[in-house]
Amino acid sequence: MADMRKVGVIGAGLMGNGIAHVAALSGLDVVLMDVHAPALEKALATIGKNLDRQVQKGGVQAGERDAALKRIATATDNSRFGDCDIVIEAATENEAVKQKIYAALCPKLRPDAILATNTSSIPITRLAAATDRPGRFVGMHFFNPVPMMKLVEVIRGLATEDATVASVRGLAERMGKAVVEAADYPAFVVNRILCPMLNEAVFALMEGVGDVAAIDAGMKLGANHPMGPLELCDFVGLDTLLSVMQVLHAGLGDPKYRPCPLLAKYVEARSEERRVG
Ligand code: 3HC
Repeated sequence: MADMRKVGVIGAGLMGNGIAHVAALSGLDVVLMDVHAPALEKALATIGKNLDRQVQKGGVQAGERDAALKRIATATDNSRFGDCDIVIEAATENEAVKQKIYAALCPKLRPDAILATNTSSIPITRLAAATDRPGRFVGMHFFNPVPMMKLVEVIRGLATEDATVASVRGLAERMGKAVVEAADYPAFVVNRILCPMLNEAVFALMEGVGDVAAIDAGMKLGANHPMGPLELCDFVGLDTLLSVMQVLHAGLGDPKYRPCPLLAKYVEARSEERRVG
């Protein structure tokens, strides 16, 4: 596809607002969609705050911040995606929810538009099968916090066309990101390696190997990680981490990927207490 100009983002949560932020800052027009209007308001406030932070640090000029904010339009339905070159779905990590979104979205897209998913772990080939465009469907996996993390994993499903991969690679690079291509196996490259380590940290907590402070300090000071693993669990979201571990466990069938019972318990609690760190 020729140069992309307009990007749709579905889901105004942690990842969606970061993707909209970086896309707008790189000069693209953005439509940020969420069915919950308050989530859109919150996302715009977060983007404004994070852009201010970048201005204060000197990485972004005040004029660039203002222009980026003006490039972001919001919507609570699919009606504004008709002229988007690509839509990046960053909805909740639930396969049935994503399939429902694609069913409603696809008829509204231009036939040549690319549909990308920011899924952390759900197979791209299986998600592509729920769309009308498996050749133009691709995984485009960003990392939290999106404005800071350099990587985008690009994951090709069985039917993804070379031209689609080339387009999203170009888009990611325009957004200032480095691309790593990953094959369509459960959780791809980074989460395949990172999430079992985080899950293991929750096992270490459950078994009393160390308390929260010891586990986090141990990995920060002993392995030079920027955040302790339990702090990172909370940062990524315990529900997302559990969902990645479930996909790894089911997809690879190896007990070494079993989600830690304490992690599942925290997610089941469904409350503000849902933090391990
Ligand atoms: N937007 C813009 N800027 C941000 C930001 C945001 N959301 N969050 C942090 N920053 C900036 C700060 O302004 C600061 O900028 P500077 O380097 O120019 O001074 C810089 O990031 C560092 O921030 P802080 O000084 O406040 O804090 P830290 O030095 O502790 O760094 C961190 C924060 C970058 C988040 C760092 O702790 C880190 O790298 N943590 C690990 C994050 C990680 O592993 N992410 C991947 C998670 S896995 C994932 O996302 C995949 C999913 O599928 C599960």
